[in-house]
Amino acid sequence: MHDFIFKNNRLLCENVSVEEIARKVGTPVFVYSRKALLDHYRKLEQTFAEIEPLICFSMKSNSNLSLCRLLVQEGAGLDIVSGGELYRAKKIKAPAQKIVYASVGKTPEEIEAGIKAGILFFNVESLPELEMINDVAGRLRKKQRVAVRINPDVEAHTHHYITTAKKQNKFGIDLKTTENIFLNLRRRFKNLDICCIHVHIGSQIERVAPFIQAVKKAVKLIERLNAHGANITHLNIGGGLGIIYKKEQPQTAQEYARAVIPLVKNRGLKLILEPGRFIVGNAGILATKVVYVKDTAVKRFIIVDAAMNDLMRPALYGAYHEIVPAIKRKKMTFRTADVVGPICESGDFLAKDRRLPAFLKQNDVIAVMSAGAYGFSMSSNYNSRRRAAEVLVSGSRFRIIRKRESYSDLVKNEVIGNE
Ligand code: LLP
Repeated sequence: MHDFIFKNNRLLCENVSVEEIARKVGTPVFVYSRKALLDHYRKLEQTFAEIEPLICFSMKSNSNLSLCRLLVQEGAGLDIVSGGELYRAKKIKAPAQKIVYASVGKTPEEIEAGIKAGILFFNVESLPELEMINDVAGRLRKKQRVAVRINPDVEAHTHHYITTAKKQNKFGIDLKTTENIFLNLRRRFKNLDICCIHVHIGSQIERVAPFIQAVKKAVKLIERLNAHGANITHLNIGGGLGIIYKKEQPQTAQEYARAVIPLVKNRGLKLILEPGRFIVGNAGILATKVVYVKDTAVKRFIIVDAAMNDLMRPALYGAYHEIVPAIKRKKMTFRTADVVGPICESGDFLAKDRRLPAFLKQNDVIAVMSAGAYGFSMSSNYNSRRRAAEVLVSGSRFRIIRKRESYSDLVKNEVIGNE
């Protein structure tokens, strides 16, 4: 997290003090670095430059309009998974021909919206879905490009909730059925141009090997199918690149590119990537304020004003996020504590048994690091908590890119009847 560093004991995002943002905007607040976001995107772009892939930022990791727009302006496409994300993509005028749409449950309405928008690919996850897209395209008198998302039965060695390419997972189509689609069923789908293989094996993957295994399987399949008359022109290898949360040593973009490029180069395939976490994970933090320090006979609880509704990853996956004070002291002693939110569940924690500065007290601001991906985008209103504000820092300036929700926002769609 090179753009979040301590200077004179103050945590800075680029050149702005996180403490200052927290005091001015209030807490909890997500703080993003524009530079980090763009640097991560450019790093991928540069390492893959020789084959010029289409890099579709995975919007589910962070769908904030300002952040997505920055990436789109930089040349990124978008990987979307719902009508809502399509709506967001249209709002920022993302070029439709750079949008790919995955999800096992696209509804007819969502499919229609995607076709009308002119998106590049639907990444199809089942035969009934293929039929549905064919029907909707026919009704609209359009020909739609689709990718078949394969399930290569590869172990990604990551948390089982975010492993997606094992036979038992709901995602993708097995290789046999895929062959049948390309070699026999293709002609039945008159309104479809089935010309891409998509494979996404999971998220927060730290080793290159599983990627290689999956890409090799996909390339072999493409060669076989093309030799038998299919016309596969694109290969989408999904996202999944792991980042450093604690002391992981994930593959670098260079290592990843060095392994992937030789597999696809000179095969006449256009490569598509769908990174989310790699781009935005370490471009954002969650700043929160200490409400109380509660010492019990067995434990210290640092109770903060952010909770599992703001950052669900620790509660859901037992995920580790580093926690640091926004202002350090020269000499610090440490104490073990749980960092917890105010929500009425014991699963509501941001850190467990963590060594934290003993000085932390009411009103101190702390930062939960690496919270840019799957932070705000997975947040909820549980316990009728307003969703947090989001701030974008650029150099020495910052601006609010999403206002904190108001109490009236919480109830705006509810209707009180007379029953
Ligand atoms: N493409 C597809 C088809 C995906 O399903 C995903 C993520 C991505 C791309 C982007 O993956 P990334 O590059 O960000 O790893 N909520 C979990 C992660 C869920 C990932 C879902 N799919 C977490 O907080 O760790």
